[in-house]
Amino acid sequence: MARFRLPKLGSDKSPWLYTSAAVVGLAGLIKLREGVNNYLFSETHCYQSVRTHWEDEPYANCFSVSPSGTFSKVFRETSDTQLAKRADTGHVIPGLWDGHGHLLQYGEFLNAVDLFGSESMEDVQTRVRGYLDDHPGFGTRHEWVRGVGWDQMALGRMPTADDLAGDDRLKGLYIMLDRVDVHCIWVSQAVLDLLPESLPDIPGGEIVREPGMGVFCDNAMDMVMALWPKPDNKMKQRFVKSAMEKLNEVGLVGMHDAGATPENLALFKELAGGDDWTVRVFSMLECYERDTYCPDEVEKYISKDGFLHIQSVKLFADGALGSWGSALIEPYSDRPDTSGSLLVNTSELTAVTKAWANHGFQVNIHAIGDLANRYAVDAITAALREVCPGQSPSECQAQKRFRIEHSQIIHPDDQARMHSIGIIPSIQPTHATSDMVYAEKRLGKERTAKEEYRMHSLLDIHLVLGSDFPVEPSDPFQGIYAAVTRKNPHTGQGTNDYPDGWHMSEALSLDQAIRGFTEGPAYGSFLEGKAGVIKKGAFADWVVLDKPLEEMHIEEFRSLKVRETWVAGKRVYKRN
Ligand SMILES: *[C@@H]1O[C@H](CO)[C@@H](O)[C@H](O)[C@H]1NC(C)=O
Ligand SMILES: [Zn+2]
Repeated sequence: MARFRLPKLGSDKSPWLYTSAAVVGLAGLIKLREGVNNYLFSETHCYQSVRTHWEDEPYANCFSVSPSGTFSKVFRETSDTQLAKRADTGHVIPGLWDGHGHLLQYGEFLNAVDLFGSESMEDVQTRVRGYLDDHPGFGTRHEWVRGVGWDQMALGRMPTADDLAGDDRLKGLYIMLDRVDVHCIWVSQAVLDLLPESLPDIPGGEIVREPGMGVFCDNAMDMVMALWPKPDNKMKQRFVKSAMEKLNEVGLVGMHDAGATPENLALFKELAGGDDWTVRVFSMLECYERDTYCPDEVEKYISKDGFLHIQSVKLFADGALGSWGSALIEPYSDRPDTSGSLLVNTSELTAVTKAWANHGFQVNIHAIGDLANRYAVDAITAALREVCPGQSPSECQAQKRFRIEHSQIIHPDDQARMHSIGIIPSIQPTHATSDMVYAEKRLGKERTAKEEYRMHSLLDIHLVLGSDFPVEPSDPFQGIYAAVTRKNPHTGQGTNDYPDGWHMSEALSLDQAIRGFTEGPAYGSFLEGKAGVIKKGAFADWVVLDKPLEEMHIEEFRSLKVRETWVAGKRVYKRN
């Protein structure tokens, strides 16, 4: 998308402006110039209705966009004839934000084997073969076949390298396939052959050895990832473009990128503002070595046009529930021998959180299990006390906005601490509806009822909603559906035990859910008043729907297709 160039009008040499300057003074002059430019060059758009999320005018039907890509005026056109002349078809809502996704991984996923929903080893093999038909030449030492989306529960058991060699066309190829939650990888024999003969156990990780070699989880993935030929910048640029096109298509104008290396952030700085960069990105730094302090690698950066924000860091407390990797206070109900594992101990987590807080970065900690969430709350509380001496943690938190990414299983005591301090929960409603089929097995009835997948009871904090794409589909309307119905947007079903929605006491209203994809992420990225709202001074980002949101049946959200998406006053997607 081309950035709008300001016309030369009003350059300082204009005699008209010199006269004005004498009269109104410099500040007035600048204001006047802005006013003149906005008046002469702003564009006005009218629609059948505009939902604004702005208290002064919750519903309007027209707005003007200044050349700088912000709203300059939001209003109601009351004259029917005027409106009839100007209005476009469609109903507008503020541009949507995903509060937790992975930009490059999403692009990579869009260019990889899609294994989501695969139901057998044969199914996986068929999909890999199909990918090879479309991507001839992949599978060499220098260009591995990548895929994502398998789940050992759907496959019937943990897969092995042999399962990939079972297909003649796949034999000998370099293949690496991510588990549905990207906390495990499954590799082919060619990849295994690159590793040393005997592999010691890895703290905070698991090398799956039964029924055979091939799967590596959490920290054990690192040794394989070190061998993987990383995509170069040109390839990454392609990933960014594919990802952003797809995000615009589902109505997203912004996203919180939950972990980018210093190298990738440097690339983002080059690309942001270019024609293909059509999504606003609030990117969290992830140091090369997980859970460390690496302030020399990256500086804070906020682009003038609001397309890239670097001011936060991502830390990891534990792994995922599906692979028994999330750290629990009490053992798993279906595996009493383990309570999962932390990726970092509590003193280290607190130390690194304090270091980043002192450096002025927002700290966002990945925590799934209730032990991980407890330690995340401990670390954040300790850091708040240190960085704002003389203030209460909640006063400090109002400025620092530390977050817990996923906030999935939280002991009631720690929920209370999050409420009292205002620690931001960053939650993915579709994780709840994907995990609900096994969550109760892992955790038992009581823990599930009291601790798991809170949403409604966390509403008084600024709830940030997202999808964790590519782990779940990026479509925010599926997330809204999951939050409102607590049913799977894919099937439209609850579970056998909860056919009418899983633990409905934690469901959100439609209004609450849509605010979780607009106002929530805006607050969680220091962009309140700029993002997720249609009002003067906000980013001119909006989405056009066929019907007003409030008039749709909730089941329609499962397959809702947006009509148009606009970012900074430019149309970035139009449905055919
Ligand atoms: C925590 O981890 C750090 C870094 O790995 C280590 O130096 C320290 O001894 C650990 N502390 C405890 C209490 O285990
Ligand atoms: Zn994530």
